[in-house]
Amino acid sequence: MSEIYCSEIMGVGHFVPERIMTNNDLTAFMDTSDAWIKERTGISERRIAATGVSTSELGYKAALNAFSRSDVKKEEIDLIIAATLSPDYYFPGIAVLIQNRLQIPCPAIDLRAQCSGFSWGLTIAHAMIQSKQYKNILVVGSDIHSRIIDFSDRGRNVSVLFGDGAGAAIVSAKKRSAEAHVKNKVSGIIDNYMGSDGSGAELLAMTRPGLSGPELFITKEEVENKSYSPYMEGGKVFKHAVTRMCESITALLERNHLTADDIDFLVPHQANIRIISAVAEKFKFPMDKVIVNIHKYGNTTSASLPLCLSEGVADGRLTKGKLILTVAFGSGFTWGANLIRW
Ligand code: UT7
Repeated sequence: MSEIYCSEIMGVGHFVPERIMTNNDLTAFMDTSDAWIKERTGISERRIAATGVSTSELGYKAALNAFSRSDVKKEEIDLIIAATLSPDYYFPGIAVLIQNRLQIPCPAIDLRAQCSGFSWGLTIAHAMIQSKQYKNILVVGSDIHSRIIDFSDRGRNVSVLFGDGAGAAIVSAKKRSAEAHVKNKVSGIIDNYMGSDGSGAELLAMTRPGLSGPELFITKEEVENKSYSPYMEGGKVFKHAVTRMCESITALLERNHLTADDIDFLVPHQANIRIISAVAEKFKFPMDKVIVNIHKYGNTTSASLPLCLSEGVADGRLTKGKLILTVAFGSGFTWGANLIRW
């Protein structure tokens, strides 16, 4: 049988800032409580990047961690894909900044898909490898939310949710027989799913600063009253998240003639423990087959999935041969899933 290229994940890594902000710490700035946050979201604490630390720096450190856990050397990387919604600069994006920090000469592209960014990054890496254009791709998800969220009462429905962090994966081309790939018995990305619905764009968005008006990129008033902070209609976003994550899982299971029982671990985007539980319940995934770390980090946006993968490898749950389904949903709206034989 003919040979084809599989995309194998050769290493995953993560980096989180040292500073921990607990739910109780938040009560100093806003009218909230540890009990409310835990009950409604499952979050106990989150990490906060120190002043002067940038999103590209977190991403770079996560990439170094991934290299330290992989046989692939940074010099072998021929493409970088980096996802963020909190870039160092309005332009250029963080991919070139990570490339410069790593000192490797390769193309570096930014991906804007918010909480689905890392999932889409794996999808694009897989497609690039299958097209035989690239052999070793670094996919990074990195976000610093703490600089843009409103830590006052007004922003409490958003600010208690988010944390800072980064994760990275190295995806490499491996020649395999097509027969082995079809039977899904070899390590590699098997299938991917992506979706978008721009009619939900303003339901979870940071619309200022921006070029769509009024007349300035950002006004003095907007800075003073912090109206640049992200806005979210939580209830609507919650419902869309559950629906689209379920849709993504169903699509990959059906297309690959699998049932939820065949999946060893579900790796969901960490937005809210109630969203994760609702999705798991729908497919009857027992919670010990679901990777969860939202209690420690909150929602780290594009870093959420690689943080779970990295911790799952480190604690011995994600071992070679396991069948893994990642699923994400985020601003845009965007959503996606990846079926991976580890
Ligand atoms: O990563 C992208 C995807 N993101 C998501 O999927 C997030 C989706 N949304 C959610 O997770 C939830 O909607 C939230 C956690 C944001 C909110 O939970 P909820 O159960 O939908 O609460 P709610 O917005 O309906 O608010 C319930 C009450 C309100 O008070 P009243 O009107 O009932 O008096 C809020 O003002 O809770 C109040 N509230 C808070 N109270 C204490 C909202 N935020 C807080 C807070 N602390 N931080």
